[in-house]
Amino acid sequence: MRCAWTDLPAELRTAITAHTGAVRDIRAAPGGSNAAFAATLTGRTGPVFVKAAPTRPDGRDGPQIRALRREIAVNPCVPEFAPRILWSTESGGWLAVAFEHVNARHADYQPGSPDLDALAGLVHRLQRTPCPPVVGLAIERRWAALADDVSAFAGGALLHTDLNPHNVLITEDGRVVLVDWAFASRGAAWVELGQTVPWLLRAGHEPAAAENWAGQFPSWTNAEPAAITLHARLSAIRWQHRHKNHQSPAINASVAVAQQWADYRMAGVPAAGSASS
Ligand SMILES: Nc1ncnc2c1ncn2[C@@H]1O[C@H](COP(=O)(O)OP(=O)(O)OP(=O)(O)O)[C@@H](O)[C@H]1O
Ligand SMILES: [Mg+2]
Repeated sequence: MRCAWTDLPAELRTAITAHTGAVRDIRAAPGGSNAAFAATLTGRTGPVFVKAAPTRPDGRDGPQIRALRREIAVNPCVPEFAPRILWSTESGGWLAVAFEHVNARHADYQPGSPDLDALAGLVHRLQRTPCPPVVGLAIERRWAALADDVSAFAGGALLHTDLNPHNVLITEDGRVVLVDWAFASRGAAWVELGQTVPWLLRAGHEPAAAENWAGQFPSWTNAEPAAITLHARLSAIRWQHRHKNHQSPAINASVAVAQQWADYRMAGVPAAGSASS
C-alpha cells in the first residue's frame, strides 16, 4: 500500500519542496508493493518522479530503504536504460529519491503486440551490458534456500530481474525506459528470460509461445534445459510461499502462471537439483 503526500512527515515534505518548489500537482504511481510513497510531483521545476520509504522504528534501514539505496547505487551505471536520479534527501526518518519524470505508457505484452519487439530490443541491449561492480545481489542466493544446488543460476551478467510490463515504459516516440532497478542482480544471462517468461504467460501467451520468444536470445538457447526447468520449478515454489502469507488477485495470478510454466517444463524436460519443499 502506498501512502499519500500528506501522510509523509512534514520535515520530509519540506526537504522535498526545497528541490521542487511548492508542489501544485501530485499523481500517485500505479502498483505499489515496494516504495511506501511513489508519485509524480509537479512544482516550480516541472514534474519529477519521487519514491520514498521510512526507516524502521529502531532507525535502521528496512527492506524498502535498502531497495532505494540499491537503486541509487546502480542508477549512474545504467543511464541508457533508466531515468536519471536527480537528487535524494533523508529527513524525518525517511529517504526520498527523485527521478527524471518519464511521460510514457506501460508496455503491452499480449500476443501480437509490437511492444514484444521493443522488449526484445531492450533485453538484447541489457544482455550486452557488463554488470557494474556496485551490483551486490547474486541471483542464485534468491533461490539457495529452495534447492540443494542453484549454481547453474550464477554468472557475471547484469540482470534487472523484474521486466514486468509496469517496469517497462514506452514513450510516445517509441523509446523504451526501464524503471525499478531495486533488485538488479549478477547472474547467468538466461535467468533474465526465466524471470520474464511468466509475465508473457500473464499477458496471454501459451508456454510454448513464450519460450519461442525467449529462443531469440543466445543465452537462452545455450542454457542447460534442466537449469531452466529448475528455475521454473523454484519460481512456482516461491510464489506459493508468498501466497501463503499474502493473497491478492495479482499474487494469485502470479502463482497460477508460475505453476503453469513449471508444469509445462516438467512435462518435457527433467529437472536438475532437488527442491527442499
Ligand atoms: N521515472 C518515472 N517517471 C514516470 N513514471 C514512473 C517513473 N518510474 C516509475 N514510474 C511509474 O511508477 C510505477 C512504480 O514505479 P516503480 O516500479 O519504480 O516503484 P515500486 O515502488 O518498485 O513499485 P512496484 O512495487 O509497483 O513495482 C511504475 O510502474 C511506473 O508506472
Ligand atoms: Mg515496479
